[in-house]
Amino acid sequence: MPTHTRRQVLTALGVVAVAGTGALTYRVHDTAALSPGRGDAYDPWRHWRDTPGLPGAVAAAILAPSPHNTQPWAFAIRADAVDVHVDAARHTGSVDPYRREQYIGVGCAIENLVLACRARGLRPDVAWQPDGPGGSRVATVTVRPGPAEGGPLYDAIGDRHTNRGPYTAEPIPAADLDALADPSGLPGLRVRWIAGPGPRAALGRLLVDAAAALCADETQSRDNFAWFRANDEEIQRYRDGLTLGGQGFGPPKLALAKLLPASSRADGDKFWLQQTATVHTATAAAYGVITCATPDDRATQLAAGRLLERIHLTATARGIALHHMNQITERIDRERDAGLTPAFAPRFAELLPAGEHPLLTFRVGRPVRAGAPSPRRSR
Ligand SMILES: Cc1cc2nc3c(=O)[nH]c(=O)nc-3n(C[C@H](O)[C@H](O)[C@H](O)COP(=O)(O)O)c2cc1C
Repeated sequence: MPTHTRRQVLTALGVVAVAGTGALTYRVHDTAALSPGRGDAYDPWRHWRDTPGLPGAVAAAILAPSPHNTQPWAFAIRADAVDVHVDAARHTGSVDPYRREQYIGVGCAIENLVLACRARGLRPDVAWQPDGPGGSRVATVTVRPGPAEGGPLYDAIGDRHTNRGPYTAEPIPAADLDALADPSGLPGLRVRWIAGPGPRAALGRLLVDAAAALCADETQSRDNFAWFRANDEEIQRYRDGLTLGGQGFGPPKLALAKLLPASSRADGDKFWLQQTATVHTATAAAYGVITCATPDDRATQLAAGRLLERIHLTATARGIALHHMNQITERIDRERDAGLTPAFAPRFAELLPAGEHPLLTFRVGRPVRAGAPSPRRSR
């Protein structure tokens, strides 16, 4: 996934050039450079706690992470239940040819929904695919009155952000990593931590190679780039996708990047590769990999989303940053779908116990700076 799309972001020269053309004032307005996170597109982050009952629980659900911030969900609220649907039109094409990440994203939203029901005194019961595997409902969450139970994971919903910035050199002890993952009620899923220097370096190389392969594949590169929102007008209009504000820049670099003209897909790919090598993999304290025996099973994917969101919220509550990095599995699926010789499946398998297939990969560490909110459509 490209993390930057500004041609001259690394150099102040571009700013001078833009200012010299008299376009500076326009760019400041256009990209909302001076007030990141402003506007209706970010409102859901400000109001998710205020709304009672099931509408409030759905307001919390939509703050979940999703692939490329596609928000591929739809909710139908009834008197004592919420029906959860996949919005099939909201996908990343060849980046996710089997819609694995799409279903995982919906699973993340269901985890928030469950936590927010409990916090509102509604005891939730999740039924997966109530109409069977081909039905339009992927889950129904039925509620009945119960005690109001908040807690640190619920409280973390509004602070959880994908943090793509640098992490400090502080290691995270193995016991702290293990304590991030609670797979209770989610059978068939494992979390493998890759923290030792050798395996961590090997996975880092694989992530860099997968990013390069994805960029070299024009179809995947185009499908990646399609979800980038280049300016404030696009952000407020679509309220989805990837933005400069979510790329982990410090304030001076972010302000520079927002002042510069939108760049090309090729420049964005180049910059993502550079960030993957010099920031993402270079500063990861550890990687987590969620594995299972049945990666193509929809119920497993939905459960994996719940587990992923649990991990992300627990990390947030404990001051640990998390960055989803799925380019390896995206290449594994692409190679399979396009009938290419598998390059990445065997290399990833070498780093995992026999018989365990990777579903999701992420890095964790102590953040140098806090993550920033990304836009959301209203529920
Ligand atoms: C299944 C899934 C896959 C994702 N893959 C990546 C990824 O490969 N690279 C990345 O930078 N972010 C990835 N993300 C993070 C999303 O881009 C992020 O959740 C979205 O932009 C919304 O931002 P937020 O998490 O800060 O709210 C993924 C998220 C999910 C749920």
